[in-house]
Amino acid sequence: MNMKSNSENWPDLKLIAQQLRKPSGELAARVASKMDQGNRPLFELTRDTLCIKTACNILEIGFGSGKYMKEIWALPECLSMSGVDYSDDMVKQAEANNAEALTSGKLSLINGSSDNLPFDDHSFDIAYCNMVIYFWDNPEIHLSEIYRVLKPEGKFYTGFRPRGSMLNFPFTRFNFRLYDVEDWESVLAENGFSVVGTEFRLDPELDDDGNQFQLESVCMVAAKSSDT
Ligand SMILES: C[S@@+](CC[C@H](N)C(=O)[O-])C[C@H]1O[C@@H](n2cnc3c(N)ncnc32)[C@H](O)[C@@H]1O
Repeated sequence: MNMKSNSENWPDLKLIAQQLRKPSGELAARVASKMDQGNRPLFELTRDTLCIKTACNILEIGFGSGKYMKEIWALPECLSMSGVDYSDDMVKQAEANNAEALTSGKLSLINGSSDNLPFDDHSFDIAYCNMVIYFWDNPEIHLSEIYRVLKPEGKFYTGFRPRGSMLNFPFTRFNFRLYDVEDWESVLAENGFSVVGTEFRLDPELDDDGNQFQLESVCMVAAKSSDT
């Protein structure tokens, strides 16, 4: 998400914020391409942190363009993968990017929201999301749904950039809920999860009109606290 300024004729910051929350219409493809590029380091951290065992059922929430999903569903240990995103345009892009897995039935992509997941209880061994939690106005509703669809031994991986990194982007003033690592750990704990590990990585340095900065990627691993 390297959209630090308006220097590339980006529309106003509020519009960028709205598009990142739910890419749609004429700007959707351009926003998705920026997200793919800027969020790649965070995707790699989450991918490397996922503990994928034999015959795992995996859920991704807020997959965006789905450009990198193949690096998860093509793993031999991935039995099946589902994705949920509430943007029509992102579902269409992700379908185009993952046609092979959709045809084979290994992947299903659903237009839906994480506050009302269209899955039975105890469906998944692993759920993850990257760069999505900022848009959950009531995180407890989304987390209770994730808790419900995870199997008793299931794990939820949250990929995000902490507040200090996100504040490099002026559009985060518009309706983003930003978290420090400790903040998100507390939210998870308040909602029945226990954090079992947190991985950190510094992204490659970015240059915005001569202004250099470096983002931090975080992947927090949380387990269900009880076997419900
Ligand atoms: C900033 S983009 C991140 C996309 C991708 N995960 C990445 O890392 O590049 C946020 C994505 O989450 C989706 N999203 C946001 N809130 C959602 C919700 N409540 N349910 C489902 N999808 C959601 C948006 O439509 C968008 O595709």
